[in-house]
Amino acid sequence: MAKRMALVLLLMVLTVSAVSADEEAFIGVNIGTELSDMPHPTQVVALLKAQQLRNVRLYDADRGMLLALANTGIRVAITVPNEQLLGIGQSNSTAANWVAQNVVAHYPATNITTICVGSEVLTAMPNVAPVLINALKYIQSALVASNLARQIKVSTPLSSSMILDSFPPSKAFFNQTWNPVLVPMLKFLQSTGSYFMLNVYPYFDYIQSNGVIPLDYALFKPLPANKEAVDSNTLLRYTNVFDAMVDAAYFAMADLNVTNVPVLVTESGWPSKGDSNEPDANAENANTYNSNLIRHVLKKTGTPKHPSIAVSTYIYELYNEDMKEGPLSEKNWGLFDSDGKPIYILRLTDSGSVLTNDTTNQTYCSAKPGVDSKMLQAALDWACGPGKVDCAPLLQGQACYEPDNVAAHATYAFDTYYHQMGRAPGSCDFNGVATITTTNPSHGSCIFPGSDRNGSLLNGTIPVMDTKSASSPAMFEYMNAFSIANALIGALWIAVVS
Ligand SMILES: *[C@@H]1O[C@H](CO)[C@@H](O)[C@H](O)[C@H]1NC(C)=O
Ligand SMILES: *[C@@H]1O[C@H](CO)[C@@H](O)[C@H](O)[C@H]1NC(C)=O
Ligand SMILES: *[C@@H]1O[C@H](CO)[C@@H](O)[C@H](O)[C@H]1NC(C)=O
Ligand SMILES: *[C@@H]1O[C@H](CO)[C@@H](O)[C@H](O)[C@H]1NC(C)=O
Ligand SMILES: *[C@@H]1O[C@H](CO)[C@@H](O)[C@H](O)[C@H]1NC(C)=O
Ligand SMILES: *[C@@H]1O[C@H](CO)[C@@H](O)[C@H](O)[C@H]1NC(C)=O
Ligand SMILES: *[C@@H]1O[C@H](CO)[C@@H](O)[C@H](O)[C@H]1NC(C)=O
Ligand SMILES: *[C@@H]1O[C@H](CO)[C@@H](O)[C@H](O)[C@H]1NC(C)=O
Repeated sequence: MAKRMALVLLLMVLTVSAVSADEEAFIGVNIGTELSDMPHPTQVVALLKAQQLRNVRLYDADRGMLLALANTGIRVAITVPNEQLLGIGQSNSTAANWVAQNVVAHYPATNITTICVGSEVLTAMPNVAPVLINALKYIQSALVASNLARQIKVSTPLSSSMILDSFPPSKAFFNQTWNPVLVPMLKFLQSTGSYFMLNVYPYFDYIQSNGVIPLDYALFKPLPANKEAVDSNTLLRYTNVFDAMVDAAYFAMADLNVTNVPVLVTESGWPSKGDSNEPDANAENANTYNSNLIRHVLKKTGTPKHPSIAVSTYIYELYNEDMKEGPLSEKNWGLFDSDGKPIYILRLTDSGSVLTNDTTNQTYCSAKPGVDSKMLQAALDWACGPGKVDCAPLLQGQACYEPDNVAAHATYAFDTYYHQMGRAPGSCDFNGVATITTTNPSHGSCIFPGSDRNGSLLNGTIPVMDTKSASSPAMFEYMNAFSIANALIGALWIAVVS
C-alpha cells in the first residue's frame, strides 16, 4: 500500500512539473510559392491574420515576405534554399553574409524564430550532404556573433524516409548510410537546444503500404480496439500514423544515443485532389486529416512514447501550388486558392484561436457619401483599369449592376481593390473619395470581397483555448524524469503484484 502511495505521489509531482513548462504547442503553415498568380506579400499576410495563423515557414528568406511579416506578431521560420547550401557550407563568411542579409536586417521587427538549413537535403540533394554539418555550424556561429542564438533555433528538416522499419516504432532506426551526417547533426541539435525537424506524410505511408496501413489509421479516425497498432516491445498503443512516425523518430534518435532532442514536424498534410489513380487524394480525406491533425496537435496529448510533449506542426500548405510538377495531387496540398478562398471548410470545434474568420475586424471600403460624382467616376475608372479590379460584375445583367449608380459601382470597385491589397493602409483612399466601413455592403447576389463566408477556413464554434504546453527542449528534463519514473513504476508494479 505504501508503495502505491509513493507511486501516486511520484506521478503527481511529475504531472505538476510537466504542465509548468511555459511553451506553446502551435499549428503553423508552410508557404510554397509555385503559383502562377502568387498573391502579393501583403495579401498573404492579410490571409494569415484573418485566419489567426501565427506561425509560418517560408522555403526561402524572401525580402518582400519578411518585410510584410514585420510587426505582425507572426513567428517565422525561414529556409536556406538547398541551392545555396554548397556555398554556405563551404564558407563561414558566406554564411555570415546570409545571416546578416536575411536575419539581422529583419529581426526583431520580423520575429524570425527558426532557420531551416535546406529542405530534405539528404534525400533530395545527397551531393550536398558532406557540407550540411558545416552549413548548420556556420549559420549558428553567425547567429552567436549577432547575439541571436538564444532567440533563433537552427536545424534541418528531414524526410521521414530516412527512418527505416518505422513500425513498431521501438524498432525504428535511421538509414545507416547517413550516420556520418546524422550523428554530428544530433550532437549539434543537442548542444544548441534545437529541434529535430521531420516531414511527416501519412498520405504517402498509406499509399505506399499497399493496403497494410488502413486509411482510417492514416486519417486519425477511431479504430476498433482490435485494429489499433500495439508496439509489442513497449506495449504502447498507436491510434494514428502521425504519432507512430514521430515516435519512430524518437526511437531512431535513441538508437544513436540521443534522447533529449524534441521533434518539430516541419511538414504534414493531405492533398485534396488527385489524378484518377490517386483516389484517396480528395477534399473529404484532406479535410478529415487536417482537421484531426490540428485538433490533435492543439490538444497537446503528445505521442504514446512522450505524452505531454506536444508536437508543434506546420501544415503543408497554405496555397495550392498550380505550377508544381508531378501528379495532380502535387498541386493540391493547399488550404486556400490564390484568391484566399478555402479549398474546403475545416471541421474544427475546439481549435483554439487558429484558423478562425476574424469577423470582429471585418472592414470594407466604400464610396464616401456626398462626394463629387465626377471624382467618384474617375476613381472607379482607375480601379477598373490600372487598379486591376475585375469589374465584370458591374456590367448590365451581372450580380452587382443594380443599383446602377456611380456610388454603388465605385463602392464595389473600391472594396475589391482594398481586399486585393490585403486591406493595406492607404488602399482605401482614392483621392479622398473612399472610406473604411464595418458595414457589409453586400446585397442580394452581389457579394462583396471581405464578406464571403467562404473566406473562412473554419466551420464551427471556437471556444478560446489555452495552447500553452510543454514542448520546449527544456521539457526534456521532465521527459527523462518520466522515463525513469516509468521504469520505477514498472518495478513498483511488479513489487505490488508479487
Ligand atoms: C517572438 O516569438 C517568441 C515566441 O512566441 C516570443 O517569445 C518573442 O518575444 C517574440 N519576439 C519578438 C521580437 O517579438
Ligand atoms: C565563423 O565566423 C564566426 C563569426 O561569424 C566566428 O565566430 C567563428 O569562429 C568562425 N568559425 C570558423 C570555423 O571559421
Ligand atoms: C539508404 O540510403 C541510401 C543512400 O541514399 C540509399 O541508397 C539506400 O537505398 C537507403 N536504404 C534503404 C533501406 O532505404
Ligand atoms: C550508443 O551507446 C552504446 C552503449 O554505450 C554504444 O555501444 C554505441 O556505440 C553508441 N552509439 C553511438 C552511435 O554513439
Ligand atoms: C482588431 O483590431 C484591433 C486594432 O487593430 C486589434 O487590437 C484587435 O486585436 C483586433 N481583433 C482581432 C480579433 O484580431
Ligand atoms: C464566420 O463569419 C460569418 C460571417 O461572415 C459568421 O456568420 C460565422 O459565424 C463565422 N464563423 C466563425 C467560426 O466565427
Ligand atoms: C461558397 O462558395 C461556393 C462556390 O464558390 C458557393 O456556391 C457558395 O454559395 C458559397 N457559400 C457561401 C456561404 O458564401
Ligand atoms: C458546417 O458544419 C455543419 C454541421 O457540422 C454542416 O452541416 C455544414 O455543411 C458545414 N458547412 C460547410 C460550409 O462546410
